[in-house]
Order: sequence, then C-alpha cells, then structure tokens
Amino acid sequence: MNQHARLDSQPIPFIDVLAQRRRLGRAIDEAVARVLNHCQFILGPEIRELETQLAAYCGVRHAISCASGTDALTLVLLAKGVGSGDAVFCPSFTFAATAEVVALIGATPVFVDVEEATFNIDAASLERAISTARKLGLKPKAVLPVDLFGLPANHDSIAEVAEDSGLFVLDDAAQGFGAAYKGSKLGKFGLATTTSFFPAKPLGCYGDGGAVFTDDDTLAETIRGLRVHGQMPGKSEFSHIGMTGRLDTIQAAVLIEKLKIFPEEIEARNLAARRYSEKLGNVAIVPLVPQGYTSVWAQYTIRLAPGLRDGLAAALRAEGIPTAIYYAKPPHRHEAYKRFPIADGGLPITDKLADEVISLPMHAYLDETTQDRIIDAVKRALSR
Ligand SMILES: Cc1ncc(COP(=O)(O)O)c(C=O)c1O
Repeated sequence: MNQHARLDSQPIPFIDVLAQRRRLGRAIDEAVARVLNHCQFILGPEIRELETQLAAYCGVRHAISCASGTDALTLVLLAKGVGSGDAVFCPSFTFAATAEVVALIGATPVFVDVEEATFNIDAASLERAISTARKLGLKPKAVLPVDLFGLPANHDSIAEVAEDSGLFVLDDAAQGFGAAYKGSKLGKFGLATTTSFFPAKPLGCYGDGGAVFTDDDTLAETIRGLRVHGQMPGKSEFSHIGMTGRLDTIQAAVLIEKLKIFPEEIEARNLAARRYSEKLGNVAIVPLVPQGYTSVWAQYTIRLAPGLRDGLAAALRAEGIPTAIYYAKPPHRHEAYKRFPIADGGLPITDKLADEVISLPMHAYLDETTQDRIIDAVKRALSR
C-alpha cells in the first residue's frame, strides 16, 4: 500500500476537539493552572469575567453561566414560575432536552412542526398548537424555538405569534450560540436565550456548561439566585426553590481562552459549509441559509430521498468517514414523550425530515484535503 492509500483510509473525526486542543495548547493549561492556584473552584473570578465577555459578545445586559444547556432552560422556566397546567410550545425536530425541561418542571410540552427548508419551528404550526393547547384546557405560556444545527429560527414570525397569544419566548440556542439574525447575534430574541457549552458544541468547554442571556434585570437576578439553591445574591434567606446550577470556575477559564478564537472558528466553519454546499448541491439537498441569517454550523446536514441514507452512511463508514443522524426519531415518538400533545395538523415535516437527514463531519479544523475526501466519497456513494 502506498502512503496515499494509507492516508486515504485514516479515520476522520466527526468533530475534531483534539485539533482545537492542540492549537490552544499552553493557553488552556495556564488558564486551568491559574484556577488550581487560586482554588476558587465555585463562582471564582473567571466566572464573572466570562459572563462579562459573553454578554458583550451578544450585546445583551446579562449573561449568567450555569451547569449545562439543560439547566439554563430550566432556570428560566423556574424563574418565570411555569408549572402545572401551562403549555410550553417547542419543536420536536430537536434534542430531547428542549421538551424534557418543560415536563420536568411539571408543565406540558406541546410539539410544533418545523419548516422544511430551515428545520426550525414553523409559525403557522405554532398557531395551530396554541389552539390545540387551549382545547385541552392548558394555558399557553411560552414558546421555545430552537436554532437548530446553528441556524437561527425565524424570530420575527415567532415573536409576532407569541405577542398575539401572550407567550414569552425562550430561545434554545444550545446549537446556535454565535449565529446572527438580521444583524443581531442570538441572545437578544425574546425574553431570554440559552446555550450549551457541551464539548461538541460550536463553543464548548471541557465538560458540561451552559448560559442564559437576557436584557431583563429582574429575571437575571432571580436566575443568579436559583442557580445557588434559591438564595438571591447578597441575601441570607432562601426565597425560592432552586438548584445546584453553577458553571465550574475551571470551565469558565477554558471558555475564556476558547472565546478568543471563536470568531475565527465561525469563519472556518462557514468556509467549510460553503465548500460542502458548492460541491454537493447536485447530489443532495444542501442546507439553506436564508437572506439575513448567519449560521455557526453546529451540524452540516444534507437531505436525501428516503431509503438512500443507510447506504451512504455504510459506504462512508467503510472509508473511515463518520456520519450522524439528528434526529432519526424525534422526541414526540419516544416513550417518555408520547403522552404529550402535538399541534393540530400533526408533525408531517418533522417526520419527513427524520427519514431524510444525515450530517457530515463539520468543525473549524476541517482542512480542504480531508473535506475533499468526504465530498468525493459522498458523490461516489450516491452515484452508485
Ligand atoms: C437543542 C438543544 N437544547 C438543549 C440541549 C442541552 O444542552 P446540555 O447538553 O448542555 O444540557 C442540547 C444539547 O445537545 C441541544 O442540542
């Protein structure tokens, strides 16, 4: 076997966390060492520093770090007193956590369909879901759009429906932190936005982490208390039932270093996405980025005619190229969520997409040679 043949069969990572670790090298080691030296592992100085930087990055008044993207959603719903009898609308074409938090606090998730072109929540289906909830005797309370795969949802149309029906908007930007809608970074749409710093996310830490973004001073103060068992900042009284929901100082130190290179990484992801779309547009349906939107490409997801996906995944696997399917079985079809209502008219687009989507390796360190290997393998497999 010549050297080329060996290189061509090297396994490719789906997300290359190691390449970024190598690039940041000593900067991360030193940042973590600073925390090990000052020993303020809980709410140490890096937490405030990170929160200030995150708020400035999104252009919001408050960024409140917390233990995960799931906790971030939970903290907002708890702070708003959402609970039994309340309907919270969310897409089903998403990770289970979006609906999980709603059920966990005792409210009812009502599943809404998505737009076929963007994979994001569909305002017309949201309107139908609101009437579904009312018919069931539930009180429409909030909508949780998801900026899926890094692409912002249609925030103007969601805001319009939300305002008409008295809902607050909690934007689940776990996959979309850093993306922009009509000139503003996510973080500014609705009452609050949340994100996840899970290692595979566009901005990930070295464990679990998350954050809430809001311009609402009262909400921010309440969330700062709720993440410390409901003890409001500066008070001895436990005035709320809260949780252990803080981000570790070590994770904040890691994120401060990663935030420095994040804009450059977003550009690299966009470059890779553009190359994929240019070269694969004639063999698959490639993702749409509507005018005025930018994506951070948490996933690069193509669509194929039903029945082709498994063959493509197997052919790529044989060449050391991993793929993933987000989401082959959306939450509303899982055991834990089957009992919750879905919008009148059903979720036909969600079910259709679940049969058609497949995600290719995507990260900021995907060099052209490796990407061409993926592109060629996809074309070969689909032309068989
Ligand atoms: C859309 C969405 N919401 C929420 C979460 C939960 O984030 P975490 O894993 O940090 O709890 C995720 C994580 O994958 C997600 O993709």
